[in-house]
Amino acid sequence: YPLQKLNSFGIDAYAQEFLSIDNIAQLHALRANAALASMPKLILGGGSNLVLSDRVPGLVVKISLMGKEVLSEDDEHVYVRAEAGENWHAFVRWTLEQGYGGLENLSLIPGTVGAAPIQNIGAYGLEMQDVFHSLDAFDLSTGEVLTMRKAACRFAYRDSIFKHDYKDKMVILGIVFALPKKWIPKLDYADVARYLADKEIASPTPLDVSNAVIAIRQSKLPDPAVIGNAGSFFKNPIVSATLRDELLHSYPKMVSYPQPGGDYKLAAGWLIEECGWKGKSLGSAGVYEKQALVLVNLGCATGVEVRRLAQQIQRDVQKKFAVRLEVEPVFV
Ligand code: EPU
Repeated sequence: YPLQKLNSFGIDAYAQEFLSIDNIAQLHALRANAALASMPKLILGGGSNLVLSDRVPGLVVKISLMGKEVLSEDDEHVYVRAEAGENWHAFVRWTLEQGYGGLENLSLIPGTVGAAPIQNIGAYGLEMQDVFHSLDAFDLSTGEVLTMRKAACRFAYRDSIFKHDYKDKMVILGIVFALPKKWIPKLDYADVARYLADKEIASPTPLDVSNAVIAIRQSKLPDPAVIGNAGSFFKNPIVSATLRDELLHSYPKMVSYPQPGGDYKLAAGWLIEECGWKGKSLGSAGVYEKQALVLVNLGCATGVEVRRLAQQIQRDVQKKFAVRLEVEPVFV
């Protein structure tokens, strides 16, 4: 089964078996089918955080559960639910159209709602966990549906339990978000504040912030419909204050942000650019010319080519800065 249109990197990959799921009964049927149940599984949302090899062994399960609704409210929050197969950005815009702020900083992130908790998507000063209430997940080994609150999901920077203990074991069915009734814009990210100031918007609405984020993303990040990519390819590394000070001594222009525990987060894009990789390529895999943190498909890149480029970048950054870059998307 061809997967090229189902992964944002546009890798020409094929699945051994493929199933699209749009209701829970199909998940029970999948468990009841001995041949399918025993296969290794890849659970697929929008395919926007994946690097596939040309043959994907086992069963690819595409999650197409649809629906979104306003559930309830209390003094502080409005609770909104979306099923896993919904497009993330369309869902964000829908909440804004209903008059509920809270998700606007996460506008235009590619992928589906069900994929959002897996890497705890984040951008422009907000992480999904900040507005997350709970999710329902189908346990493929027991057939049970469990409700998981925030603590159980072990959210961290671009990380959750779904990348570790629960990897490919749980199908996220739907998510409830708690959106704040007393909305305050999150403008700590300089680019967003600057964009609004340029437009002379002094007291922005959630829609204004969303539009700012959309414009900033469009100016920096490649549209996967035009140039295949999986967003940031590496996490921004977190280093000790000692290493950061040493590096700053040799590279006074290095970008770093203080972290709660005293460590510092470095801008991986800056490190990669400083190694001379911005706009460069290796075979059909390239480094985006406007954002060195994003690797792109220049034509017909294979998973192997993308991996080779990523490893070369990791080696160069390690050699120059003694910093290990961790890959962000999932290799299959
Ligand atoms: N920079 C460079 N050269 C580059 C790229 C960046 O010098 O080629 C510098 C910038 O000048 C800036 C700093 O690095 O000072 C940070 O760059 P940017 O604002 O573009 O953000 P980022 O740290 O590269 C992160 C997220 C993005 C998210 C943005 C905005 C990660 C791994 N990436 O990127 O998330 O949109 O911040 O919040 O944390 C994603 O995960 O797929 C993603 C796009």
